[in-house]
Amino acid sequence: MMRMKKSDSVFQERMAKHQDELRWLYMELYGNEEMFGELTSQMYEYYQARKASLKNRDKKREENPDWFKKNDMLGMMLYLDNFAGNLKGVQKKLDYLKSCNVNCIHLMPFLDSPEGRSDGGYAVADFRKVKPELGTMEDLAALTDKCHRKDMNVCMDFVMNHTSEDHEWAKKARQGDGEYMSRYFFYDSYDIPGKYEETVPQVFPTTAPGNFTYLPELQHYVLTTFYPYQWDLNYKNPRVFNEMMYNFLYLANQGIDIIRIDAVPYIWKELGTSCRNLPRVHTIVRMMRMIGEIVCPSVILLGEVVMEPEKVVPYFGTVEKPECHMLYNVTTMATTWHSLATQDIRLLKQQMDVVNTLPKEYTFLNYLRCHDDIGWGLDFDTLKWWGMEEVSHKRYLNDFFTGKYEGSVSRGELYNDDPVTQDARFCGTTASMCGVESAGFEQDEEKMEKAVGLDLMLHAYMFTQSGIPMLYSGDEIGQVNDYSYKGNPLKREDSRYLHRGAFHWDLAAKRGHADTVEGKIFMGLNRLEKLRRQEAVFDTKASVYTYDVHDDSILCIMRERDGEKFFGIFNFSSQDRTAWMQEDGEYRNLMTGEKMEMKDVFRMSGIPAAVSKDVFE
Ligand code: GLC
Repeated sequence: MMRMKKSDSVFQERMAKHQDELRWLYMELYGNEEMFGELTSQMYEYYQARKASLKNRDKKREENPDWFKKNDMLGMMLYLDNFAGNLKGVQKKLDYLKSCNVNCIHLMPFLDSPEGRSDGGYAVADFRKVKPELGTMEDLAALTDKCHRKDMNVCMDFVMNHTSEDHEWAKKARQGDGEYMSRYFFYDSYDIPGKYEETVPQVFPTTAPGNFTYLPELQHYVLTTFYPYQWDLNYKNPRVFNEMMYNFLYLANQGIDIIRIDAVPYIWKELGTSCRNLPRVHTIVRMMRMIGEIVCPSVILLGEVVMEPEKVVPYFGTVEKPECHMLYNVTTMATTWHSLATQDIRLLKQQMDVVNTLPKEYTFLNYLRCHDDIGWGLDFDTLKWWGMEEVSHKRYLNDFFTGKYEGSVSRGELYNDDPVTQDARFCGTTASMCGVESAGFEQDEEKMEKAVGLDLMLHAYMFTQSGIPMLYSGDEIGQVNDYSYKGNPLKREDSRYLHRGAFHWDLAAKRGHADTVEGKIFMGLNRLEKLRRQEAVFDTKASVYTYDVHDDSILCIMRERDGEKFFGIFNFSSQDRTAWMQEDGEYRNLMTGEKMEMKDVFRMSGIPAAVSKDVFE
């Protein structure tokens, strides 16, 4: 039972709004009244512990729940050590981030995690401790506070599917403590693990094959979907759910605005299934959403659902019973690169048409690449109709982007090249994939010009999509692949480090010079970001459509808001093309500022053109 002061009517009101549903879902899942009581009283504790400034943020955002959907939102993801050494270092670089027009920073995993067995920080040993070399919880709270004062938001990962084998629960479980073993999935023989293996696919088939790890000292198998040192948590145990919710609230109370729920489709397991996207996952995410709305409503959930579109969309929940606030637009991202390699935008157009018909409440996070590999999760049923078979097409894409394919300017490496399924994924920075690395190596200015143009075009296209864009730190100055990970024994097996290199401040220093690659990309992006912020057509409330310009290499995105029309025209071929448009009237070319009569035909070069109608009268 909760004892509340009268002054806590805010909490009571929020609780009253959700209690029935929360209780119903919890009891349906766990049937444990006592644990539910503990959950709600802890929620109250975390609410009380929340700083006044955060409560104020909660209040403002409750009044303006669409705060994160505005066209000034621009994210950037960065590793603290790569970017600025540690948490305190990032505080000193906020002005740089502001100059990139970024108002949301995703701090890549920074919680305590064992060196060499960390999966880039995704194996958390302590959810309440920052890795000592990166700082302390106080530093985190100080950073979020400073960001908030500068109108910036902070995002962090909440790795809830598993813990590190060094987490105190795992350590106790390894000693045979049943209470802690029940928080994971343990088996004393291979019978059940063997059955799981029949239906559960592998995430890291070459770097971490199989879904179980044998612990000889305990003579047990433990479920490890990812690396052997990442032990899957058992959410059938209400203690796991409750404790992880307390961790979530604890982190939210450090001033985090966006919680990225890592690997969320995996959090519920059932024998005989793929152990992905099971209905109970949605129950848990829905409960998490309500818990957040009661304790810390300014905090939003970003789901990491790297799945095909029909599996992704349900993570928004329904408009009445929402789950995640935002999801990665992963299929569009992968399809973008496919379009570049094939100079064919048909699939991309089809994919965007699906996204564009979803309710406007559903907000996607758009990106060109992230810290992970690019998996070729394309719609192969459709591609088959156009003569592209899955295995051979994936091979083509990998050959193309690794630069093996004749004429390809891209550079990068494969990831988890599985000889059985032939299902390799790809690693590389945006600039390297666009040809900046190869042109630099060959010192070929003409190629460099094209590479920079392509890099800017892809960013312009990303800014035009419906949703919120997220940059990867370093991409704003066209940073290329970093091969130094190969010299590090702790990293060399994982080619994702190729595109997770240290930020080059020496190169960033050139960003103000228009004759450098860094300057061209930085200033080019700056113009695009400002346009996106200034023009109302970029608001998430705008209607977004694709527009047929009768050329399978040209993608045209139309945005419409309050009678104003915008066309973004993106040439995915390597030649000049003509876009046929059935519009007339006066338009302004947003890239050049020029007023122009839109006739039937619009000549395209390899550089994006963006036009908007009558915006300056
Ligand atoms: C997510 C992360 C990835 C990590 C995995 C396991 O997919 O993005 O980097 O390897 O989760 O935690």
